[in-house]
Amino acid sequence: MCGIVGILGTHEVAPLILESLKRLEYRGYDSAGIATVNDGRLDRRRAMGKLINLSDLLVHEPLPGRAGIGHTRWATHGAPSVRNAHPHRAGRVSVVHNGIIENFRELREELAAQGLVQESDTDTETVAILANYYLSQGATPQEAAEKTLARLHGAYALLFLFEGEDDLMIAARKGSPLAIGHGDGEMFVGSDAIALAPLTDRITYLEEGDWASVTRAGAQIHDIEGRLANRPARRIQIDATQVDKGGYRHFMAKEIAEQPTRLTSALDHYLSGDGTFRLPSPGLDFATMDRLTMVACGTASYACLVAKYWFEQIAGLPVDVDVASEFRYREPPIPPRTTALFVSQSGETADTLAALRYCQGKADRIVSVVNVAESSIARESDLALPILAGPEIGVASTKAFSCQLLVLGLLALEAARQRGRLDAAAHAGALDALRQLPGLVNHSLGIGEPAARIAQQLAEARDILFLGRGRMYPLALEGALKLKEISYIHAEAYASGELKHGPIALVDKAVPVIVMAPHDELFDKTVSNMQEVMARGGQVLLITDREGAKAAGQGVWETLVMPDVAPLWAPILYAVPAQLLA
Ligand code: M6R
Repeated sequence: MCGIVGILGTHEVAPLILESLKRLEYRGYDSAGIATVNDGRLDRRRAMGKLINLSDLLVHEPLPGRAGIGHTRWATHGAPSVRNAHPHRAGRVSVVHNGIIENFRELREELAAQGLVQESDTDTETVAILANYYLSQGATPQEAAEKTLARLHGAYALLFLFEGEDDLMIAARKGSPLAIGHGDGEMFVGSDAIALAPLTDRITYLEEGDWASVTRAGAQIHDIEGRLANRPARRIQIDATQVDKGGYRHFMAKEIAEQPTRLTSALDHYLSGDGTFRLPSPGLDFATMDRLTMVACGTASYACLVAKYWFEQIAGLPVDVDVASEFRYREPPIPPRTTALFVSQSGETADTLAALRYCQGKADRIVSVVNVAESSIARESDLALPILAGPEIGVASTKAFSCQLLVLGLLALEAARQRGRLDAAAHAGALDALRQLPGLVNHSLGIGEPAARIAQQLAEARDILFLGRGRMYPLALEGALKLKEISYIHAEAYASGELKHGPIALVDKAVPVIVMAPHDELFDKTVSNMQEVMARGGQVLLITDREGAKAAGQGVWETLVMPDVAPLWAPILYAVPAQLLA
Protein backbone atom coordinates (compact mmCIF):
# COMPACT_ATOMS: atom_id res chain seq x y z
CA MET A 1 0.00 0.00 0.00
CA CYS A 2 1.21 3.53 -0.75
CA GLY A 3 -0.08 6.95 0.23
CA ILE A 4 -0.87 9.71 -2.24
CA VAL A 5 -1.73 13.38 -1.87
CA GLY A 6 -2.43 16.22 -4.28
CA ILE A 7 -3.03 19.91 -3.60
CA LEU A 8 -4.10 22.83 -5.76
CA GLY A 9 -3.40 25.55 -3.22
CA THR A 10 -3.16 29.28 -2.76
CA HIS A 11 0.37 29.11 -1.30
CA GLU A 12 3.44 26.96 -1.76
CA VAL A 13 2.23 23.35 -1.55
CA ALA A 14 5.38 21.26 -0.97
CA PRO A 15 5.37 21.81 2.85
CA LEU A 16 1.64 20.98 3.03
CA ILE A 17 2.08 17.86 0.92
CA LEU A 18 4.94 16.77 3.17
CA GLU A 19 2.74 17.19 6.26
CA SER A 20 -0.08 15.22 4.63
CA LEU A 21 2.33 12.46 3.61
CA LYS A 22 3.37 12.13 7.27
CA ARG A 23 -0.22 11.15 8.05
CA LEU A 24 0.01 8.51 5.32
CA GLU A 25 3.40 7.11 6.27
CA TYR A 26 1.59 4.10 7.76
CA ARG A 27 0.88 3.05 4.17
CA GLY A 28 4.51 2.89 3.13
CA TYR A 29 7.85 4.35 4.03
CA ASP A 30 10.58 3.02 1.76
CA SER A 31 10.78 6.15 -0.40
CA ALA A 32 8.84 9.33 -0.99
CA GLY A 33 8.57 12.18 -3.45
CA ILE A 34 6.77 15.33 -4.50
CA ALA A 35 6.19 16.94 -7.91
CA THR A 36 4.94 20.49 -8.44
CA VAL A 37 4.00 22.77 -11.30
CA ASN A 38 5.43 26.25 -10.89
CA ASP A 39 4.59 28.83 -13.57
CA GLY A 40 3.84 25.94 -15.86
CA ARG A 41 7.11 24.12 -15.14
CA LEU A 42 6.90 20.54 -13.85
CA ASP A 43 9.63 19.48 -11.42
CA ARG A 44 10.07 16.84 -8.72
CA ARG A 45 12.15 15.72 -5.71
CA ARG A 46 12.46 12.12 -4.53
CA ALA A 47 14.32 10.45 -1.66
CA MET A 48 14.91 6.97 -0.30
CA GLY A 49 13.65 5.90 3.10
CA LYS A 50 11.46 7.79 5.49
CA LEU A 51 9.92 11.19 4.86
CA ILE A 52 12.58 12.93 6.93
CA ASN A 53 14.99 12.31 4.03
CA LEU A 54 12.64 14.00 1.57
CA SER A 55 12.17 16.82 4.05
CA ASP A 56 15.98 17.30 4.27
CA LEU A 57 16.27 17.23 0.49
CA LEU A 58 13.63 19.95 0.18
CA VAL A 59 15.62 22.17 2.54
CA HIS A 60 18.59 22.03 0.17
CA GLU A 61 16.61 21.88 -3.05
CA PRO A 62 13.26 23.64 -2.49
CA LEU A 63 10.39 22.88 -4.82
CA PRO A 64 8.27 25.96 -5.48
CA GLY A 65 4.73 25.81 -6.85
CA ARG A 66 1.11 26.05 -5.77
CA ALA A 67 0.05 22.82 -7.45
CA GLY A 68 1.59 19.49 -6.52
CA ILE A 69 1.29 15.77 -5.90
CA GLY A 70 3.15 13.57 -3.40
CA HIS A 71 3.69 9.92 -2.61
CA THR A 72 5.00 7.71 0.15
CA ARG A 73 5.89 4.27 -1.17
CA TRP A 74 5.73 0.65 -0.14
CA ALA A 75 7.53 -1.10 -2.98
CA THR A 76 5.56 -3.56 -5.12
CA HIS A 77 7.15 -3.28 -8.59
CA GLY A 78 10.83 -2.47 -8.40
CA ALA A 79 13.09 -2.35 -5.36
CA PRO A 80 13.08 0.67 -3.06
CA SER A 81 15.34 3.27 -4.73
CA VAL A 82 15.22 6.88 -5.84
CA ARG A 83 14.83 5.71 -9.44
CA ASN A 84 11.71 3.73 -8.54
CA ALA A 85 10.29 6.37 -6.18
CA HIS A 86 7.18 8.30 -7.19
CA PRO A 87 6.21 10.74 -8.68
CA HIS A 88 7.15 9.21 -12.03
CA ARG A 89 7.59 11.50 -14.92
CA ALA A 90 7.39 11.16 -18.68
CA GLY A 91 7.65 14.37 -20.71
CA ARG A 92 4.76 16.61 -19.70
CA VAL A 93 3.16 14.21 -17.22
CA SER A 94 3.89 13.29 -13.63
CA VAL A 95 2.02 10.48 -11.85
CA VAL A 96 1.65 9.04 -8.34
CA HIS A 97 -0.03 5.69 -7.87
CA ASN A 98 -1.27 3.30 -5.22
CA GLY A 99 -2.09 -0.20 -6.47
CA ILE A 100 -0.84 -2.60 -9.11
CA ILE A 101 -1.21 -2.30 -12.89
CA GLU A 102 -1.45 -5.94 -13.90
CA ASN A 103 -0.90 -5.46 -17.66
CA PHE A 104 2.04 -3.07 -17.37
CA ARG A 105 4.46 -5.49 -19.06
CA GLU A 106 2.38 -5.63 -22.26
CA LEU A 107 1.97 -1.86 -22.21
CA ARG A 108 5.67 -1.35 -21.54
CA GLU A 109 6.62 -3.55 -24.52
CA GLU A 110 4.11 -1.79 -26.75
CA LEU A 111 5.55 1.62 -25.78
CA ALA A 112 9.15 0.40 -26.05
CA ALA A 113 8.44 -0.73 -29.62
CA GLN A 114 7.71 2.94 -30.35
CA GLY A 115 10.98 4.00 -28.75
CA LEU A 116 9.31 5.07 -25.49
CA VAL A 117 11.60 3.38 -23.00
CA GLN A 118 11.15 3.65 -19.25
CA GLU A 119 13.83 4.39 -16.68
CA SER A 120 12.40 2.68 -13.63
CA ASP A 121 11.19 -0.86 -12.91
CA THR A 122 7.75 0.32 -11.87
CA ASP A 123 4.30 -0.18 -13.34
CA THR A 124 3.56 3.48 -12.57
CA GLU A 125 6.09 4.94 -14.98
CA THR A 126 4.34 3.01 -17.76
CA VAL A 127 1.17 4.95 -16.92
CA ALA A 128 3.04 8.26 -17.17
CA ILE A 129 4.60 7.30 -20.51
CA LEU A 130 1.24 6.25 -21.91
CA ALA A 131 -0.46 9.49 -20.85
CA ASN A 132 2.41 11.54 -22.27
CA TYR A 133 2.16 9.58 -25.52
CA TYR A 134 -1.54 10.54 -25.85
CA LEU A 135 -0.66 14.17 -25.12
CA SER A 136 1.94 14.06 -27.86
CA GLN A 137 -0.79 12.83 -30.21
CA GLY A 138 -2.77 16.04 -29.55
CA ALA A 139 -5.03 14.86 -26.70
CA THR A 140 -5.98 17.32 -23.94
CA PRO A 141 -4.85 16.30 -20.44
CA GLN A 142 -8.37 15.03 -19.68
CA GLU A 143 -8.49 13.02 -22.92
CA ALA A 144 -4.99 11.68 -22.33
CA ALA A 145 -5.93 10.54 -18.81
CA GLU A 146 -9.19 8.97 -19.96
CA LYS A 147 -7.50 7.08 -22.80
CA THR A 148 -4.74 5.93 -20.46
CA LEU A 149 -7.20 4.69 -17.83
CA ALA A 150 -9.07 2.72 -20.49
CA ARG A 151 -5.88 0.72 -21.16
CA LEU A 152 -5.16 -0.23 -17.54
CA HIS A 153 -6.01 -3.54 -15.86
CA GLY A 154 -5.60 -3.95 -12.13
CA ALA A 155 -6.08 -1.73 -9.13
CA TYR A 156 -5.21 1.90 -8.82
CA ALA A 157 -5.64 5.21 -7.16
CA LEU A 158 -3.86 7.60 -9.54
CA LEU A 159 -3.08 11.29 -9.58
CA PHE A 160 -1.79 13.04 -12.72
CA LEU A 161 -0.11 16.46 -12.85
CA PHE A 162 0.71 18.17 -16.17
CA GLU A 163 3.40 20.57 -17.36
CA GLY A 164 1.81 23.89 -18.31
CA GLU A 165 -1.24 23.28 -16.10
CA ASP A 166 -1.03 25.17 -12.80
CA ASP A 167 -4.71 24.56 -12.05
CA LEU A 168 -5.32 20.92 -12.85
CA MET A 169 -4.93 17.46 -11.30
CA ILE A 170 -6.62 14.34 -12.59
CA ALA A 171 -7.58 11.72 -10.04
CA ALA A 172 -8.80 8.19 -10.75
CA ARG A 173 -9.94 5.31 -8.59
CA LYS A 174 -10.33 1.62 -9.28
CA GLY A 175 -9.81 -0.82 -6.44
CA SER A 176 -7.92 1.65 -4.22
CA PRO A 177 -9.69 4.45 -2.36
CA LEU A 178 -9.32 8.14 -3.12
CA ALA A 179 -10.89 11.12 -1.37
CA ILE A 180 -11.32 14.60 -2.83
CA GLY A 181 -11.22 17.46 -0.30
CA HIS A 182 -12.96 20.78 -0.93
CA GLY A 183 -11.35 23.94 0.42
CA ASP A 184 -11.93 27.64 -0.04
CA GLY A 185 -10.43 28.29 -3.48
CA GLU A 186 -8.24 25.22 -2.93
CA MET A 187 -8.73 21.54 -3.70
CA PHE A 188 -7.12 18.44 -2.24
CA VAL A 189 -6.90 14.76 -3.08
CA GLY A 190 -5.72 12.04 -0.70
CA SER A 191 -5.64 8.30 -0.16
CA ASP A 192 -7.94 8.89 2.79
CA ALA A 193 -9.64 11.66 4.71
CA ILE A 194 -7.00 11.44 7.47
CA ALA A 195 -4.35 12.74 5.09
CA LEU A 196 -6.51 15.79 4.45
CA ALA A 197 -7.81 16.22 8.02
CA PRO A 198 -6.23 19.55 8.96
CA LEU A 199 -6.81 20.96 5.46
CA THR A 200 -10.53 20.33 5.07
CA ASP A 201 -13.38 18.29 6.48
CA ARG A 202 -15.51 18.44 3.30
CA ILE A 203 -14.84 15.22 1.46
CA THR A 204 -16.13 13.50 -1.67
CA TYR A 205 -15.22 9.83 -2.02
CA LEU A 206 -14.65 8.67 -5.58
CA GLU A 207 -16.55 5.50 -6.40
CA GLU A 208 -15.24 2.46 -8.21
CA GLY A 209 -14.16 3.40 -11.77
CA ASP A 210 -14.59 7.17 -11.24
CA TRP A 211 -12.12 9.72 -12.54
CA ALA A 212 -12.13 13.42 -11.73
CA SER A 213 -10.76 16.55 -13.32
CA VAL A 214 -9.87 18.73 -10.35
CA THR A 215 -9.29 22.50 -10.51
CA ARG A 216 -9.36 25.12 -7.76
CA ALA A 217 -13.01 25.78 -8.70
CA GLY A 218 -14.04 22.18 -7.88
CA ALA A 219 -14.05 18.64 -9.21
CA GLN A 220 -15.81 17.34 -12.29
CA ILE A 221 -16.35 13.64 -11.69
CA HIS A 222 -17.00 11.01 -14.36
CA ASP A 223 -18.26 7.53 -13.63
CA ILE A 224 -16.94 4.26 -15.05
CA GLU A 225 -18.96 4.81 -18.25
CA GLY A 226 -17.49 8.30 -18.69
CA ARG A 227 -20.77 10.06 -17.77
CA LEU A 228 -20.72 13.10 -15.50
CA ALA A 229 -21.54 11.88 -11.99
CA ASN A 230 -22.90 13.75 -9.02
CA ARG A 231 -20.96 12.70 -5.93
CA PRO A 232 -21.98 14.86 -2.98
CA ALA A 233 -19.41 16.17 -0.51
CA ARG A 234 -19.87 15.14 3.12
CA ARG A 235 -18.52 16.61 6.32
CA ILE A 236 -16.18 14.13 7.98
CA GLN A 237 -15.42 14.45 11.64
CA ILE A 238 -11.77 13.86 12.33
CA ASP A 239 -10.47 15.49 15.45
CA ALA A 240 -7.01 16.96 14.76
CA THR A 241 -5.65 15.42 18.00
CA GLN A 242 -6.48 11.98 16.59
CA VAL A 243 -4.04 12.47 13.75
CA ASP A 244 -0.98 13.72 15.60
CA LYS A 245 1.38 11.79 17.85
CA GLY A 246 0.23 13.60 20.99
CA GLY A 247 3.68 13.53 22.58
CA TYR A 248 4.36 9.85 21.90
CA ARG A 249 7.47 8.79 20.01
CA HIS A 250 5.42 7.16 17.28
CA PHE A 251 1.81 6.49 16.34
CA MET A 252 1.99 2.83 17.34
CA ALA A 253 2.88 3.78 20.94
CA LYS A 254 0.07 6.32 21.04
CA GLU A 255 -2.43 3.85 19.63
CA ILE A 256 -1.45 1.10 22.08
CA ALA A 257 -1.99 3.57 24.94
CA GLU A 258 -5.35 4.68 23.53
CA GLN A 259 -6.86 1.22 23.83
CA PRO A 260 -8.70 1.68 27.14
CA THR A 261 -10.48 4.78 25.81
CA ARG A 262 -11.31 3.19 22.49
CA LEU A 263 -12.66 0.03 24.08
CA THR A 264 -14.86 2.19 26.33
CA SER A 265 -16.23 4.03 23.28
CA ALA A 266 -17.11 0.74 21.61
CA LEU A 267 -18.78 -0.61 24.76
CA ASP A 268 -20.79 2.62 25.17
CA HIS A 269 -21.86 2.48 21.54
CA TYR A 270 -23.12 -1.10 21.62
CA LEU A 271 -24.47 -1.49 25.15
CA SER A 272 -27.34 0.35 26.75
CA GLY A 273 -27.30 0.88 30.53
CA ASP A 274 -29.19 -2.37 31.18
CA GLY A 275 -26.74 -4.38 29.09
CA THR A 276 -28.97 -4.68 26.02
CA PHE A 277 -26.93 -5.08 22.87
CA ARG A 278 -27.77 -2.26 20.44
CA LEU A 279 -27.63 -3.07 16.73
CA PRO A 280 -29.06 -0.99 13.91
CA SER A 281 -32.36 -2.49 12.73
CA PRO A 282 -32.95 -5.10 11.28
CA GLY A 283 -30.10 -6.46 13.38
CA LEU A 284 -28.88 -10.01 13.08
CA ASP A 285 -30.89 -13.19 13.44
CA PHE A 286 -28.44 -15.67 14.93
CA ALA A 287 -31.21 -18.12 15.88
CA THR A 288 -31.88 -19.14 12.26
CA MET A 289 -28.26 -18.86 11.13
CA ASP A 290 -26.57 -22.17 10.29
CA ARG A 291 -23.07 -20.91 9.63
CA LEU A 292 -20.92 -17.82 9.88
CA THR A 293 -18.17 -17.41 7.30
CA MET A 294 -15.56 -14.89 8.42
CA VAL A 295 -13.02 -13.46 6.01
CA ALA A 296 -10.20 -10.95 6.55
CA CYS A 297 -6.45 -10.39 6.12
CA GLY A 298 -3.51 -10.24 8.54
CA THR A 299 -4.28 -9.10 12.05
CA ALA A 300 -7.99 -8.78 11.23
CA SER A 301 -8.00 -12.48 10.27
CA TYR A 302 -6.54 -13.32 13.70
CA ALA A 303 -9.42 -11.40 15.29
CA CYS A 304 -11.72 -13.69 13.29
CA LEU A 305 -9.83 -16.77 14.53
CA VAL A 306 -10.30 -15.72 18.15
CA ALA A 307 -13.98 -15.05 17.45
CA LYS A 308 -14.36 -18.56 16.00
CA TYR A 309 -13.61 -19.95 19.47
CA TRP A 310 -16.16 -17.59 21.00
CA PHE A 311 -18.98 -18.23 18.52
CA GLU A 312 -18.47 -21.97 18.60
CA GLN A 313 -17.94 -22.36 22.34
CA ILE A 314 -20.55 -20.02 23.76
CA ALA A 315 -23.10 -19.77 20.93
CA GLY A 316 -22.75 -23.22 19.32
CA LEU A 317 -22.58 -21.51 15.93
CA PRO A 318 -20.29 -23.18 13.34
CA VAL A 319 -17.74 -20.72 11.95
CA ASP A 320 -15.34 -20.85 9.00
CA VAL A 321 -12.44 -18.44 8.96
CA ASP A 322 -10.45 -17.76 5.84
CA VAL A 323 -7.85 -15.30 4.67
CA ALA A 324 -9.35 -13.18 1.93
CA SER A 325 -6.49 -13.67 -0.54
CA GLU A 326 -7.24 -17.43 -0.59
CA PHE A 327 -10.99 -17.31 -0.17
CA ARG A 328 -11.60 -15.00 -3.14
CA TYR A 329 -9.91 -17.33 -5.67
CA ARG A 330 -11.13 -20.64 -4.26
CA GLU A 331 -14.77 -20.22 -5.26
CA PRO A 332 -16.01 -21.81 -2.03
CA PRO A 333 -19.65 -22.92 -2.05
CA ILE A 334 -21.75 -20.88 0.38
CA PRO A 335 -24.40 -23.13 1.97
CA PRO A 336 -27.91 -21.79 2.68
CA ARG A 337 -28.46 -19.79 5.90
CA THR A 338 -24.85 -18.60 5.90
CA THR A 339 -24.00 -15.08 6.98
CA ALA A 340 -20.70 -13.72 5.64
CA LEU A 341 -18.76 -11.44 7.97
CA PHE A 342 -15.77 -9.34 6.87
CA VAL A 343 -13.36 -7.69 9.28
CA SER A 344 -11.15 -4.81 8.20
CA GLN A 345 -9.65 -1.79 9.89
CA SER A 346 -9.34 0.27 6.71
CA GLY A 347 -12.39 -1.19 5.00
CA GLU A 348 -10.43 -0.97 1.75
CA THR A 349 -8.23 -4.08 1.70
CA ALA A 350 -8.57 -5.24 -1.90
CA ASP A 351 -8.70 -8.99 -1.17
CA THR A 352 -11.28 -8.57 1.59
CA LEU A 353 -13.42 -6.37 -0.65
CA ALA A 354 -13.19 -8.90 -3.49
CA ALA A 355 -14.20 -11.70 -1.08
CA LEU A 356 -17.17 -9.61 0.06
CA ARG A 357 -18.26 -9.08 -3.53
CA TYR A 358 -17.95 -12.83 -4.16
CA CYS A 359 -20.40 -13.47 -1.30
CA GLN A 360 -22.94 -10.88 -2.49
CA GLY A 361 -25.98 -12.74 -3.79
CA LYS A 362 -24.72 -16.03 -2.26
CA ALA A 363 -24.76 -15.45 1.50
CA ASP A 364 -27.97 -14.52 3.33
CA ARG A 365 -26.41 -11.39 4.71
CA ILE A 366 -23.16 -9.44 4.28
CA VAL A 367 -21.94 -8.02 7.57
CA SER A 368 -18.75 -6.10 8.19
CA VAL A 369 -16.82 -5.06 11.27
CA VAL A 370 -14.87 -2.00 10.17
CA ASN A 371 -13.07 1.01 11.54
CA VAL A 372 -13.45 3.43 8.64
CA ALA A 373 -17.18 4.01 8.42
CA GLU A 374 -17.08 5.56 4.93
CA SER A 375 -14.98 2.73 3.46
CA SER A 376 -15.93 0.54 0.50
CA ILE A 377 -16.35 -2.55 2.68
CA ALA A 378 -18.71 -0.67 5.01
CA ARG A 379 -20.67 0.80 2.13
CA GLU A 380 -21.06 -2.51 0.31
CA SER A 381 -22.26 -4.45 3.38
CA ASP A 382 -25.88 -5.02 4.37
CA LEU A 383 -24.86 -4.24 7.92
CA ALA A 384 -21.64 -2.40 8.83
CA LEU A 385 -20.64 -2.45 12.49
CA PRO A 386 -18.12 0.25 13.45
CA ILE A 387 -15.37 -0.61 15.92
CA LEU A 388 -14.87 3.05 16.94
CA ALA A 389 -11.10 2.75 17.30
CA GLY A 390 -10.51 6.21 15.78
CA PRO A 391 -7.94 6.73 13.01
CA GLU A 392 -5.24 4.05 13.11
CA ILE A 393 -2.18 5.64 11.58
CA GLY A 394 0.57 3.33 12.86
CA VAL A 395 1.53 0.64 10.35
CA ALA A 396 0.76 -2.08 12.83
CA SER A 397 -2.80 -2.75 13.79
CA THR A 398 -3.12 -2.39 17.58
CA LYS A 399 -6.20 -0.59 18.89
CA ALA A 400 -8.16 -1.77 15.83
CA PHE A 401 -7.37 -5.39 16.79
CA SER A 402 -8.59 -5.01 20.38
CA CYS A 403 -11.71 -3.11 19.26
CA GLN A 404 -12.41 -5.73 16.56
CA LEU A 405 -12.18 -8.39 19.26
CA LEU A 406 -14.50 -6.46 21.54
CA VAL A 407 -17.19 -6.05 18.86
CA LEU A 408 -16.87 -9.70 17.82
CA GLY A 409 -17.08 -10.73 21.49
CA LEU A 410 -20.30 -8.73 21.88
CA LEU A 411 -21.68 -10.38 18.73
CA ALA A 412 -20.78 -13.85 20.05
CA LEU A 413 -22.56 -13.07 23.34
CA GLU A 414 -25.62 -11.85 21.45
CA ALA A 415 -25.54 -15.01 19.32
CA ALA A 416 -25.38 -17.13 22.48
CA ARG A 417 -28.34 -15.24 23.95
CA GLN A 418 -30.46 -15.56 20.81
CA ARG A 419 -29.63 -19.25 20.39
CA GLY A 420 -30.52 -19.94 24.01
CA ARG A 421 -26.99 -21.15 24.84
CA LEU A 422 -26.42 -18.86 27.83
CA ASP A 423 -28.92 -18.32 30.60
CA ALA A 424 -29.53 -14.78 31.84
CA ALA A 425 -27.06 -15.06 34.74
CA ALA A 426 -24.23 -16.48 32.61
CA HIS A 427 -24.90 -13.85 29.94
CA ALA A 428 -24.83 -11.03 32.51
CA GLY A 429 -21.64 -12.44 34.03
CA ALA A 430 -19.86 -12.60 30.67
CA LEU A 431 -21.03 -9.10 29.81
CA ASP A 432 -19.85 -7.80 33.13
CA ALA A 433 -16.44 -9.36 32.57
CA LEU A 434 -16.27 -7.75 29.14
CA ARG A 435 -17.03 -4.35 30.68
CA GLN A 436 -13.92 -4.77 32.87
CA LEU A 437 -11.68 -4.87 29.81
CA PRO A 438 -10.89 -1.14 29.43
CA GLY A 439 -9.72 -1.01 33.07
CA LEU A 440 -7.71 -4.21 32.75
CA VAL A 441 -6.07 -3.09 29.51
CA ASN A 442 -5.16 0.17 31.22
CA HIS A 443 -3.63 -1.77 34.11
CA SER A 444 -1.74 -4.06 31.73
CA LEU A 445 -0.04 -1.07 30.09
CA GLY A 446 1.94 -1.02 33.33
CA ILE A 447 4.06 -3.92 32.07
CA GLY A 448 5.66 -1.46 29.63
CA GLU A 449 8.91 -1.31 31.61
CA PRO A 450 9.56 -5.03 32.09
CA ALA A 451 8.42 -5.59 28.51
CA ALA A 452 10.97 -3.03 27.29
CA ARG A 453 13.75 -4.69 29.32
CA ILE A 454 12.87 -8.14 27.95
CA ALA A 455 12.55 -6.73 24.43
CA GLN A 456 16.16 -5.47 24.65
CA GLN A 457 17.25 -9.08 24.95
CA LEU A 458 14.78 -10.47 22.45
CA ALA A 459 16.12 -7.97 19.93
CA GLU A 460 19.35 -10.03 19.78
CA ALA A 461 17.50 -13.13 18.57
CA ARG A 462 17.33 -14.11 14.93
CA ASP A 463 14.27 -16.33 15.33
CA ILE A 464 11.52 -16.33 17.95
CA LEU A 465 8.69 -18.80 18.48
CA PHE A 466 5.26 -17.98 19.91
CA LEU A 467 3.06 -20.67 21.45
CA GLY A 468 -0.59 -20.56 22.45
CA ARG A 469 -3.46 -22.98 22.88
CA GLY A 470 -7.18 -22.56 22.24
CA ARG A 471 -8.21 -18.91 22.23
CA MET A 472 -4.58 -17.96 22.79
CA TYR A 473 -3.35 -19.63 19.60
CA PRO A 474 -4.52 -16.73 17.40
CA LEU A 475 -2.80 -14.40 19.88
CA ALA A 476 0.44 -16.29 19.31
CA LEU A 477 -0.07 -15.74 15.57
CA GLU A 478 -0.68 -12.05 16.20
CA GLY A 479 2.42 -11.78 18.42
CA ALA A 480 4.58 -13.32 15.70
CA LEU A 481 3.09 -11.07 13.01
CA LYS A 482 3.67 -7.94 15.10
CA LEU A 483 7.28 -8.91 15.74
CA LYS A 484 8.02 -9.59 12.07
CA GLU A 485 6.28 -6.44 10.91
CA ILE A 486 7.70 -4.02 13.44
CA SER A 487 11.02 -5.48 14.61
CA TYR A 488 12.02 -7.33 11.43
CA ILE A 489 12.79 -10.38 13.57
CA HIS A 490 11.76 -13.71 12.13
CA ALA A 491 9.00 -15.16 14.28
CA GLU A 492 6.61 -18.08 13.91
CA ALA A 493 3.61 -19.14 15.92
CA TYR A 494 2.40 -22.64 16.67
CA ALA A 495 -0.57 -24.07 18.45
CA SER A 496 1.22 -25.41 21.55
CA GLY A 497 0.13 -28.99 20.87
CA GLU A 498 1.62 -28.87 17.36
CA LEU A 499 5.14 -28.15 18.56
CA LYS A 500 6.03 -31.80 19.04
CA HIS A 501 4.97 -32.61 15.47
CA GLY A 502 8.12 -31.16 13.93
CA PRO A 503 8.85 -27.57 14.92
CA ILE A 504 10.39 -28.58 18.26
CA ALA A 505 13.50 -29.44 16.24
CA LEU A 506 14.10 -25.68 15.94
CA VAL A 507 14.29 -25.13 19.67
CA ASP A 508 17.65 -24.44 21.30
CA LYS A 509 18.98 -21.74 23.60
CA ALA A 510 19.32 -19.28 20.73
CA VAL A 511 15.59 -19.37 19.94
CA PRO A 512 13.47 -17.65 22.59
CA VAL A 513 9.99 -19.15 22.96
CA ILE A 514 7.17 -16.85 24.04
CA VAL A 515 4.31 -18.75 25.66
CA MET A 516 0.98 -16.94 26.01
CA ALA A 517 -0.95 -18.80 28.67
CA PRO A 518 -3.41 -17.36 31.18
CA HIS A 519 -4.29 -19.76 33.99
CA ASP A 520 -7.33 -21.24 32.20
CA GLU A 521 -8.73 -24.71 31.51
CA LEU A 522 -5.90 -25.46 29.04
CA PHE A 523 -3.06 -24.09 31.16
CA ASP A 524 -1.66 -27.45 32.33
CA LYS A 525 -1.49 -28.73 28.77
CA THR A 526 0.42 -25.65 27.67
CA VAL A 527 2.80 -26.02 30.60
CA SER A 528 3.63 -29.55 29.43
CA ASN A 529 4.58 -28.14 26.03
CA MET A 530 6.63 -25.49 27.77
CA GLN A 531 8.49 -28.20 29.68
CA GLU A 532 9.35 -29.89 26.39
CA VAL A 533 10.86 -26.61 25.20
CA MET A 534 12.86 -26.15 28.41
CA ALA A 535 14.10 -29.74 28.24
CA ARG A 536 15.77 -28.80 24.97
CA GLY A 537 17.45 -25.75 26.46
CA GLY A 538 14.80 -23.35 25.11
CA GLN A 539 14.54 -19.95 26.82
CA VAL A 540 10.89 -19.43 27.74
CA LEU A 541 9.19 -16.08 28.23
CA LEU A 542 5.92 -16.93 29.95
CA ILE A 543 3.11 -14.40 29.64
CA THR A 544 0.52 -15.37 32.19
CA ASP A 545 -1.41 -14.19 35.28
CA ARG A 546 -0.52 -14.47 39.00
CA GLU A 547 -1.86 -18.02 39.32
CA GLY A 548 -0.02 -19.08 36.17
CA ALA A 549 3.24 -17.53 37.36
CA LYS A 550 2.90 -19.28 40.73
CA ALA A 551 2.15 -22.63 39.13
CA ALA A 552 4.69 -22.65 36.31
CA GLY A 553 7.03 -19.70 36.62
CA GLN A 554 9.97 -21.79 37.90
CA GLY A 555 12.75 -22.49 35.45
CA VAL A 556 11.49 -20.10 32.82
CA TRP A 557 13.78 -17.39 31.50
CA GLU A 558 11.33 -14.52 32.17
CA THR A 559 7.72 -14.05 33.21
CA LEU A 560 5.40 -11.18 32.35
CA VAL A 561 2.52 -11.12 34.83
CA MET A 562 -0.80 -9.86 33.48
CA PRO A 563 -3.84 -8.77 35.50
CA ASP A 564 -6.44 -11.49 36.17
CA VAL A 565 -9.11 -11.58 33.52
CA ALA A 566 -12.10 -13.81 32.71
CA PRO A 567 -10.47 -16.56 30.57
CA LEU A 568 -13.02 -16.05 27.79
CA TRP A 569 -11.83 -12.50 27.15
CA ALA A 570 -8.11 -13.04 27.82
CA PRO A 571 -7.23 -12.62 24.10
CA ILE A 572 -8.24 -8.95 24.27
CA LEU A 573 -5.94 -8.32 27.23
CA TYR A 574 -3.04 -10.41 25.96
CA ALA A 575 -2.89 -8.36 22.76
CA VAL A 576 -1.13 -5.70 24.86
CA PRO A 577 2.11 -7.62 25.68
CA ALA A 578 2.29 -8.81 22.06
CA GLN A 579 2.16 -5.19 20.92
CA LEU A 580 4.54 -3.84 23.56
CA LEU A 581 7.21 -6.47 22.91
CA ALA A 582 7.13 -5.75 19.15
O1 M6R B 1 -7.26 -2.70 6.95
P1 M6R B 1 -7.33 -4.19 7.18
O2 M6R B 1 -7.72 -4.54 8.57
O3 M6R B 1 -8.21 -4.89 6.16
O4 M6R B 1 -5.87 -4.70 6.95
C1 M6R B 1 -5.57 -6.07 7.02
C2 M6R B 1 -4.11 -6.32 7.24
O5 M6R B 1 -3.38 -5.77 6.19
C3 M6R B 1 -3.61 -5.70 8.55
O6 M6R B 1 -4.33 -6.19 9.64
C4 M6R B 1 -2.12 -6.00 8.76
O7 M6R B 1 -1.93 -7.36 8.93
C5 M6R B 1 -1.63 -5.20 9.97
N1 M6R B 1 -0.96 -4.01 9.53
C6 M6R B 1 -0.72 -5.96 10.85
O8 M6R B 1 -0.32 -5.19 11.96
